Amino acid sequence: MFFRWNLCIWLLFGCILLASIGGGESFFRFRGRRYRGDPEKRSPVIFVPGDGGSQVDAKLDKPDVVHYICQKHTKDFFNIWLNLELLVPLVIDCWIDNVKLYYDNVTRTTSNSPGVTTRIPGWGTAETVEWLDPSHASAGSYFKDIGNALASVDYVRNVSIRGAPYDFRKAPNENTQWFVDFKVLIEETYALNENQPVTLVAHSMVVQCPWSSCSNRRAPGRTNTLRALLHSPAPGGSAKP
Ligand SMILES: *[C@@H]1O[C@H](CO)[C@@H](O)[C@H](O)[C@H]1NC(C)=O
Ligand SMILES: *[C@@H]1O[C@H](CO)[C@@H](O)[C@H](O)[C@H]1NC(C)=O
Repeated sequence: MFFRWNLCIWLLFGCILLASIGGGESFFRFRGRRYRGDPEKRSPVIFVPGDGGSQVDAKLDKPDVVHYICQKHTKDFFNIWLNLELLVPLVIDCWIDNVKLYYDNVTRTTSNSPGVTTRIPGWGTAETVEWLDPSHASAGSYFKDIGNALASVDYVRNVSIRGAPYDFRKAPNENTQWFVDFKVLIEETYALNENQPVTLVAHSMVVQCPWSSCSNRRAPGRTNTLRALLHSPAPGGSAKP
């Protein structure tokens, strides 16, 4: 369960320090290429959340609802994941109808329930992956502890601590824009931090995705913008390079 994720994320903190503070040059080779940044400087960090690890906002304008207590219309977007207030009996039925996806077996794409619009807030910021619940209820903390630990050694949120949230309900083939944006985010973070290669801190299943999205990072003429991938256990307890 995600409520325990922050425990294993803590374990990563030590690794980050190892990777980011000096002495890492021979340790972190990147497919045979040496790290090219300044070993005196710290590597900025991007959190890549796992399944269920991004906030989701929704806006409703529904033709019908599953229960009379359910809301049909909302004026603005509201937080639908993670919002513990929506997971209580009866209200949870409304929630399920708002958060579920329909699969079209012909186009092989998914869509929300009719009248539900969703968005993933906080692209590039640390906030929405540190806290799944914007009210900061403690059960919704995710990368928060590692964010605080990094901040305590002079990392700066939104500059050298960043996040790449995504719609975890959908498969990678429906998140293609994310991979494009993610590459831009890595390059932007690299530039924002005096051309220091970036460390990705990934959790759970998603680990394969950022790696493959960056697989053309060695295109001719490009600087090496990645330094290390740190990864906390995927389901099944596997470890990744
Ligand atoms: C799609 O699902 C419907 C309903 O389950 C089924 O009748 C139909 O054969 C499916 N079509 C394809 C292309 O799988
Ligand atoms: C990071 O950026 C987001 C979105 O612009 C903002 O809401 C948040 O307050 C910023 N955090 C910090 C620590 O500056």
